[in-house]
Amino acid sequence: MIENFESIPSPCFVLEEELLDINLQILDLVQKEAGVDIICALKGYAMWSTFPRIGQTLSGAAASSLHEARLIYEEMGCEAHTYAPVFYENEMDEVLHYSSHITFNSLSQYRRFIDRVKAFKKPVSVGLRINPEYSEVGTDLYNPAMPGSRLGITRDQLADTLPANVDGLHFHVLCENDSFVLERTLERVEASFGPLIRQCQWFNMGGGHHITRKDYDVKHLVGLLQAFKKRYPNLKRLILEPGEAIGWQTGYLVSTVQDIVHNKTTRIAMLDVSFSAHMPDCLEMPYKPRILNATDAREGKHVYRMGGTTCLAGDYMGMGDYRFEKELKIGDKVIFDDMIHYTMVKTTFFNGVRHPSIGILRKDGSFELLRTFGYEDYKGKLS
Ligand SMILES: Cc1ncc(COP(=O)(O)O)c(C=O)c1O
Repeated sequence: MIENFESIPSPCFVLEEELLDINLQILDLVQKEAGVDIICALKGYAMWSTFPRIGQTLSGAAASSLHEARLIYEEMGCEAHTYAPVFYENEMDEVLHYSSHITFNSLSQYRRFIDRVKAFKKPVSVGLRINPEYSEVGTDLYNPAMPGSRLGITRDQLADTLPANVDGLHFHVLCENDSFVLERTLERVEASFGPLIRQCQWFNMGGGHHITRKDYDVKHLVGLLQAFKKRYPNLKRLILEPGEAIGWQTGYLVSTVQDIVHNKTTRIAMLDVSFSAHMPDCLEMPYKPRILNATDAREGKHVYRMGGTTCLAGDYMGMGDYRFEKELKIGDKVIFDDMIHYTMVKTTFFNGVRHPSIGILRKDGSFELLRTFGYEDYKGKLS
């Protein structure tokens, strides 16, 4: 764990190699004990400089677009499991080139593209995303099974046999869930889709498995997966595609106080990062990240609101202030914890503000700055 952030440039995402390795070991244990394939969902974790390491341990990666599929192909050196809510005519050949599996979100997408997949110069296994109409995810923003959801095919749309040339089924209705939620979800999935799962060569249980969280019951998961495999001996591959669990608790967003502003009794630390541009989930979900050496504000001294660097009125941590051990001064580092999964992939260049660099803390304790961003990056996404 990093003890001294002083030498790290700000703002900067910093991944600790050792913490990533711990997550990979846990995931590998599940792969080996349960006999399943765990693949890394790029939508949640796409720090590609670590892909060689991930590719050595996990069984590949899941893409949700042509670009993610290409990144997997180029940087992990394997073909992607690609699912997207829609595929495009003019991208299909490239998607197939980079993919070993392609999963369609609807029967109309399947009908539109199946002949092209089958006529492609190499085999690509075809799947359908199903919508079990059951999810324990409370927030609609993250609930793919909410009423009227556009994601996945409901049971009533499918006959008793799989459509021609379909090899697998895929569901994704979990988000930061434990294995007991998975157990209840599987009961519902199997009650509706069991006979169809029996016709599959592979089955993909999507993401949202919080396997690397401290209190996750890995043993229970392994038992559950083993029992599932016994019930469906037809399955050649059982796949899980978590994103968050890969980068869970593996690093930080380092920021620096640039100003302290006062508004009546409120003291606001103005930072060189933005909640809107660099930590959008804090506003969307919303959630309050932990700051190292700070606690949730209670009455007393050294209480500050964290303010972002864009001019959006809502660019501040609205879920509550923080209490620090001592008074904050301009130049002090403020370190947001657990900022690697999703945060890094969701950043924007809103307001043209400086984009955090990306660095890695190697196992030997050395810090390597991997990427900095400048004016050309901002300009390059506009015209
Ligand atoms: C289809 C699909 N697979 C995998 C994931 C990864 O989920 P998580 O990062 O929560 O594990 C998501 C997340 O939205 C998803 O939509």
